Amino acid sequence: MTFISVNPHDPSDVIGKWEQAGEREVAAVVERASRAAEEWRRTPAAARSQALGDAAAALERRGDDVIALTVREVGKPVTEARGEVARGVSILRYYAQLALLPDGETLPAASHDALLMARYRPVGVAALLTPWNFPVAIPLWKAAPSLAYGNATVLKPSSAAAATALLVHEIIAPVLPRDVFQVLLGGAETARPLIEQPRVAAVSFTGSVPVGRDIVRRVAERGGKVQAEMGGQNPSIVLADADLDRAAATIAYAAMGYAGQKCTATSRVIVEDAVYADFTERLAEDITQLQVVDPAAEVHEIIAPVLPRDVFQVLLGGAETARPLIEQPRVAAVLRADSPARAVAIANEVRFGLVAAVFTTDLGRALRLTEELDAGMIRVNAPTSGVDFYAPFGGAKESSYGPREQGLAARSFYTESRTVLITP
Ligand code: UN1
Repeated sequence: MTFISVNPHDPSDVIGKWEQAGEREVAAVVERASRAAEEWRRTPAAARSQALGDAAAALERRGDDVIALTVREVGKPVTEARGEVARGVSILRYYAQLALLPDGETLPAASHDALLMARYRPVGVAALLTPWNFPVAIPLWKAAPSLAYGNATVLKPSSAAAATALLVHEIIAPVLPRDVFQVLLGGAETARPLIEQPRVAAVSFTGSVPVGRDIVRRVAERGGKVQAEMGGQNPSIVLADADLDRAAATIAYAAMGYAGQKCTATSRVIVEDAVYADFTERLAEDITQLQVVDPAAEVHEIIAPVLPRDVFQVLLGGAETARPLIEQPRVAAVLRADSPARAVAIANEVRFGLVAAVFTTDLGRALRLTEELDAGMIRVNAPTSGVDFYAPFGGAKESSYGPREQGLAARSFYTESRTVLITP
């Protein structure tokens, strides 16, 4: 079966048409990956580091092509696409260095002449299933640690971001030994046999809740390692002492930037009673500043052409039109709280807990709230969206399953320790 990827800004622009990989091709790719893994895990860390550094340089050289394709294929505003590709380069450089960190530890043994140690070993073959909304950063924040720690890696990107994934692969694969990094294209018919291959030791997924849960169940059932990141209903709390102008501008962007198509987007704004009217007025004004334009335009404050255009025409009708709209939960719900404690209770009452933001000028309060908010990432006076690739990434409750991604935390997913005792 074939599938296509189209430009969301201009659906007549078909970016590519590909054959969906079926069971036989999936099995063949995994077979090649497991052979490549044997060699890759024996490759000295310094050589793996060098390869990832070369990959970073190659991506940087071809950056403009990747940016243009990202804009065209997923409608990401060019200013954000540029940031995403730069982030991809940094991620590769970062894991190039992490490959050189200690690969284990020694522990006191029962007798003085014995050696007890734990060494981190690659898991073998890792399969990565990634969404379309961050078509460069998410594949790379999974692939870079997977490769750096010595795993053969198979990427199955979203069909809606197939061309961008292929381009990233085309740029990076040549600096790596054959079959160490492969791409499989297709939808569920490709993903299903991939995650069920017994030789796929670890599966990392980012996407929707039902798909993530299904993957977790299937991979765990056969004894594989699995990690899933499945989004959130991220709150931004505005306390009465907040800098309201700054909070409104930050939240407008966090909720509406890229049409809210980020798992880290703000979807609930919880405002303390005393400033509710003032704040919603400002937020409505900021939202009316957002424009729906060609994502290739050099404008920062743009949403993206993904939702039907008429929704935005209404939204852009002025503050009076915008206010009732932003109070609709599907866009971003604005809720009132009569105290900071109540705001936290509202923030925590959903099933998800990916990111939460707090806007306040009182540092003591900010610190207390970070203790009480049930979210994997908490940001004070900053948008819920936008993450630091060198810090652990993941959510609480139903947002995530398994070990954290990114930063040093990624090692626990892409390696497994071997405890070795040597007695003379
Ligand atoms: C970001 O906000 O910079 O799928 C990254 C997503 C998230 C990534 C967000 N996993 O939207």
